[in-house]
Amino acid sequence: MASPCTSSICITTLLLVVVSWATSASARNFYQDFDVTWGDGRAQILNNGDLLTLSLDKASGSGFQSKNEYLFGKIDMQLKLVPGNSAGTVTAYYLSSNGSTWDEIDFEFLGNLSGDPYILHTNVFSQGKGNREQQFYLWFDPTADFHTYSILWNPQRIIFSVDGTPIREFKNAESMGVPFPKSQPMRIFSSLWNADDWATRGGLVKTDWTQAPFTASYRNFNADNACVWSSGSSSCASSSSSSSSDGNAWLSEELDSTSQEKLKWVQSNYMIYNYCTDAKRFPQGLPPECTMS
Ligand SMILES: *[C@@H]1O[C@H](CO)[C@@H](O)[C@H](O)[C@H]1NC(C)=O
Ligand SMILES: *[C@@H]1O[C@H](CO)[C@@H](O)[C@H](O)[C@H]1NC(C)=O
Repeated sequence: MASPCTSSICITTLLLVVVSWATSASARNFYQDFDVTWGDGRAQILNNGDLLTLSLDKASGSGFQSKNEYLFGKIDMQLKLVPGNSAGTVTAYYLSSNGSTWDEIDFEFLGNLSGDPYILHTNVFSQGKGNREQQFYLWFDPTADFHTYSILWNPQRIIFSVDGTPIREFKNAESMGVPFPKSQPMRIFSSLWNADDWATRGGLVKTDWTQAPFTASYRNFNADNACVWSSGSSSCASSSSSSSSDGNAWLSEELDSTSQEKLKWVQSNYMIYNYCTDAKRFPQGLPPECTMS
């Protein structure tokens, strides 16, 4: 058996193959990317890092956060929400920086009685100011299976998507004097907690603790296209070198006409609250970004 290489070169080659496989998209795991931050054992990483579960009982909820900080990114996570009677519970999944003028991009899932719809609540904070809520019902049961919730955050826009369908676009309106999140790195956070003072029908329906523990599950995190912040600088290494000619196309991505149609479909059929149409709330006039189409 003639070997084409000395054993040390063969081993090196093999190691390179293993290393490049391990750093490719398919090999992400929750141990590498996240830290459980609170909940005293109620948050668990399972299946060799493929699955993370949060739970909530009367004594405490639980939560985790990303090890990395990101300054822009296209970030996907699959979630399966608390099934059955989830009234009073909130599953929050968001990006946030810190300090008193923080930026934040939020998905919050407000539970409900069995068979009644969750509300998907979204918000964007820039420099500590939010008040930009939009809320939606979903077109499927988010507790029956995993679905993908994505945030595209680039310097021009923030797009919230569900299973690839855009539900909300928040455009950069700095030209109108509206601050846009673009200089503070954010971490990914998630938590499951009790908010029965406001979450379900405005706080009318309380958490039924006989159903505890409540559990939400996470899998298939993907931040291959994101700029990771480290000691004062950001690197946007793209892992998709093989598949696309411009791995950083997401940094200027916008909605194409098909996606705009989908966004309209969601907004006309599933949107239940939009701060931009809540004139009563803004007697001095709607926020300036609301006039952008
Ligand atoms: C927030 O502050 C801490 C220390 O004060 C820092 O380590 C962390 O990276 C900051 N940023 C985020 C997004 O958490
Ligand atoms: C819960 O169900 C009720 C009745 O269908 C609905 O009005 C409400 O928006 C639902 N969601 C929440 C979080 O209250």
